[in-house]
Amino acid sequence: MSAFTPEQEKVLVAWTKRYPYPNMGLVEALRSVQEWHRCVTPAAAARVAELFELPFSRVWGVATFFPSFTTKPTGRHRVGLCHGLSCSLAGSDKMETCLEETLGTKAFETSADGKLSWEPMECLGACEQGPALLVNDRLQGQATPDKIAKLKELK
Ligand code: FES
Repeated sequence: MSAFTPEQEKVLVAWTKRYPYPNMGLVEALRSVQEWHRCVTPAAAARVAELFELPFSRVWGVATFFPSFTTKPTGRHRVGLCHGLSCSLAGSDKMETCLEETLGTKAFETSADGKLSWEPMECLGACEQGPALLVNDRLQGQATPDKIAKLKELK
């Protein structure tokens, strides 16, 4: 059984044909997989490798290199807290504790209802707003206890 629906397979095949060199669409294809499954499993990577006519190791290497991709399902809402140098100096450790206590999950874990997961991330390019908070790939500026409490209101 394929890791993808027929419609999803069509999307992936389209990424193989979009650029002059098929593997140029690999990252975009994996973004689609991450969005659909909230992770990239070895089975999904193997099917992507078949479609792109690439070795599995190449696809798996990309899937495990970029922090955009996870090998375990994230929550429906994926929260990132920067723990780069500037953000560490601005108190990211305190906000990590706040995330743990407020969401009731440790880093890289997903809440029991599947709604939220959070993880420390490297520099998000917003050092002046540290500790920087990212929600579903959107920068939310400086993490504060209030902003973290509002995450529980996400649907
Ligand atoms: S170190 Fe956190 S955004 Fe740069």
